[in-house]
Amino acid sequence: MKNNKNTIAVIGLSFGDEGKGKITDYLAQKADLVVRFQGGNNAGHTVVHNNKKFKFHIMPSGAVLEKEVMIANGCVVDPKVLLNEMDNLRENNKEINLKLSSTAHVICPFHRILDGLEEESKTEYRVGTTKRGIGPTYADKASRYGLRIFDLTHPKILKKKLKNLYLIKKRIINCYDPDWDINFNDIYDEFKEYGEKLKPYVIDTAYYLNQAIDSGKKVIFEGAQGTLLGIDHGFYPFVTSSNSNALGICSGAGVSPKKIGTILGVIKAYTSRVGKGFVPTELKDEIGDKIRQQGNEYGTTTGRPRRVGWLDLFNIKYSVMLNGVDYIAIMLLDALEGIDPLNICIGYEMEGKALDTWPIHPEKVKKCTPIYKIFNGWKQRSREEWTEIANSGFESLPKEIKNYVNFIAEQLQTEIAMLSIGPEREDTIVLKDFF
Ligand code: GDP
Ligand code: IMO
Ligand code: MG
Repeated sequence: MKNNKNTIAVIGLSFGDEGKGKITDYLAQKADLVVRFQGGNNAGHTVVHNNKKFKFHIMPSGAVLEKEVMIANGCVVDPKVLLNEMDNLRENNKEINLKLSSTAHVICPFHRILDGLEEESKTEYRVGTTKRGIGPTYADKASRYGLRIFDLTHPKILKKKLKNLYLIKKRIINCYDPDWDINFNDIYDEFKEYGEKLKPYVIDTAYYLNQAIDSGKKVIFEGAQGTLLGIDHGFYPFVTSSNSNALGICSGAGVSPKKIGTILGVIKAYTSRVGKGFVPTELKDEIGDKIRQQGNEYGTTTGRPRRVGWLDLFNIKYSVMLNGVDYIAIMLLDALEGIDPLNICIGYEMEGKALDTWPIHPEKVKKCTPIYKIFNGWKQRSREEWTEIANSGFESLPKEIKNYVNFIAEQLQTEIAMLSIGPEREDTIVLKDFF
């Protein structure tokens, strides 16, 4: 089988919020189908369309363009959140063309409660989760008593499975709070109604997706979170509960690795992080404040101020390797305006020695000092000036940005395909047309 030119994956290479939503929306102009394959409404993907901001938590970003979208089996779905997002799209006169996997797992109120209770009980290993019940829902999936979309849409099965889950969860929650209870019939009635509303969209998405790919449809796999937040290959335990990398596509959507064509890795021009976990390049000073303000670095899902730092090419290099990245998109270059000089981390030093590769374990990373290369910054510009540059293309970029970008390509030994200098679709420079 030849490398499939019709399927691409948009994958965050850092700690999430790299701008996957914007890039997915841009590429979706050419796509037939956009697929979310992992995560849930812990994600917050922003798409700016005709001056209007859409924030997607579980719907794939292709929904703005009324494309066919898919929430595949590897996702965890809070039905209330999904229905709200669908209502919001309808209010904006968007037609919904959704395929929802019958085997995706369902987030219930107990999962959200336990997410909070477990986090409160933790010591220095608190993750700073989004408290959307993601971890507990994936844990139940692995424990084999999770509730699936199929169950939700079959009332008799729902009653039995929800009761099973309710009894297990009640005993656990009562260890924290002996008085806690929730009326089973109320939650059953609520979830039965969600099931009725979602039923028209529910299918075997793996079968549908494979048929779509085999018939030559153009498909985008939209990653959520970022590679370093991945459960198996990320910064454990300061991670989410799914494989938020290209490796997660096969199990999360039911496709063979042979069918995944191009992998696009998305990075910011600097580092951002919500939640806990040591960030070696973190800026806790006025430069950090300036980047946070210029990049509007406040969580799309929780509104929390994001921690920011210099670009870390050492951990990104690891992500490039892991995902087999073909091309890079560099986002938010405009947000570094007026900061001079700029630093890029090119390696870590531990106990006086430069490391060969990113050390994976927080306990080791904490002992590391970043090795920086210094770059000239670029001056502040008006929004109109940035858009004008985007319209004129790469050659009209200031030489300092060209230099910064070329260095990234060289360090990562990966071609840069897209640059972003503003939140709107038009603020994008395409260097390589790969889809
Ligand atoms: P995602 O989770 O990877 O989809 O990213 P988020 O949407 O959570 O965060 C990225 C933020 O940066 C959003 O507010 C976007 O609108 C914004 N954004 C994306 N690209 C650019 C850019 O090039 N410049 C600026 N200034 N903002 C951008
Ligand atoms: P998008 O798709 C940034 C972080 C949380 C926390 C950790 C675990 O918008 O890039 P969870 O609720 O998943 O159990 O939280 O992961 N996190 C994200 N950070 N962007 C996201 O999604 C994130 N989703 C989860 O802050 O540290
Ligand atoms: Mg986000």
